[in-house]
Amino acid sequence: MAQPPVPVLAGPLPAGTPVLVIGATGQVGRQVVAALLARGATVRALLRDPEGADVPAGVARVRGDLRDPASLRAALRGAGAAFYVSPHEADERALAAAVVAACEAERVRLVFVGVHVHARSRWRAALLRVVFGRILPHYRGKIALARDVARSPLRPVMLVPANFMQNDEVFAEEIRAGRFVTPLSDRGVNRVDLRDVGEAAARALLDGDVAPGSYDVAGPRAVGGRESAAVWAEALGRPVAYLGDDDELMARTFARYLDGQRLADWTASFRVLRRISMPTSRRELRTTRKLLGREPRSFETYVHDTVAAWRAAGLLDGSPATAPGAGASPPVGLTR
Ligand SMILES: NC(=O)c1ccc[n+]([C@@H]2O[C@H](COP(=O)([O-])OP(=O)(O)OC[C@H]3O[C@@H](n4cnc5c(N)ncnc54)[C@H](OP(=O)(O)O)[C@@H]3O)[C@@H](O)[C@H]2O)c1
Repeated sequence: MAQPPVPVLAGPLPAGTPVLVIGATGQVGRQVVAALLARGATVRALLRDPEGADVPAGVARVRGDLRDPASLRAALRGAGAAFYVSPHEADERALAAAVVAACEAERVRLVFVGVHVHARSRWRAALLRVVFGRILPHYRGKIALARDVARSPLRPVMLVPANFMQNDEVFAEEIRAGRFVTPLSDRGVNRVDLRDVGEAAARALLDGDVAPGSYDVAGPRAVGGRESAAVWAEALGRPVAYLGDDDELMARTFARYLDGQRLADWTASFRVLRRISMPTSRRELRTTRKLLGREPRSFETYVHDTVAAWRAAGLLDGSPATAPGAGASPPVGLTR
């Protein structure tokens, strides 16, 4: 039987109330921090290495570790909301349980990013979980932990992003050298700009107008590997070859930029993404538009902004360029 909801702050977070970001140095968390700061929020980050961590000025650095429940509770104390994205760790289900327990104890609003299977009925969701578990066995833990989070009496908001466009930057050196190594099916994989995920999370954390439940955050359309390489080539003004069909090259390249559980997860995921298409559904796009109050950013916009940033940082030959802005209109109230 469902537990009675844990009372958390309702409605907009009062100005100055801290938001705790867990995973603030990671791909997703850093975009959530940026979006929160852009909205003038008071941001706290739970960090294993507060002195050495690369987080922007203005963020309060709190020492903590997901495997140290007392540090989690201490970091949450006095916060109005918390953001959590499950890191690539073998014990990620236990880590998520610790975060949920600490948020319940401190009565903090929770926004979670993960791989959640959601459907119109419980039976359909169960069927989809079995299907995903077969296609992506290494995702079973991620799917199980997202289900645990969804069942929390905190009644969290769960954001379910598509393939991250920013994954390409992990291999930035390769792309700048003219090689696109990550396999993506030619029939297309939906890719999302993590800046959009960050903005959607900031809204759920700060405005309190996103009803509890799961929300897809998708890009405007599915993009294949060959097409991704071509978009990079066009923006860089030089050839970028698609090499995603070469398994040995993928293994060597991934091992150069990734390690541990992250390497294992990425290798397994991209082997699957080479074979299966992940088209953008109209439902996903509708949900994303409602969350953002605008169209999601395209892959072309992401690539052009990234190339402009590389150029401005002197990482490319040629003159500095300015990143084109991507304006956001204020979002409207949202329920599922
Ligand atoms: N890649 C995709 O396309 C995709 C799509 C949908 C969902 N996902 C999911 O997104 C998640 C990964 O997110 P991400 O890319 O942002 O991860 P990430 O870049 O690997 O970042 C992980 C973050 O968690 C922190 N962390 C790890 N262990 C910790 C601990 N014991 N205590 C405190 N902090 C800890 C890390 O901090 P340190 O700086 O201390 O290391 C880092 O900030 C995965 O669950 C994945 O399945 C990925």
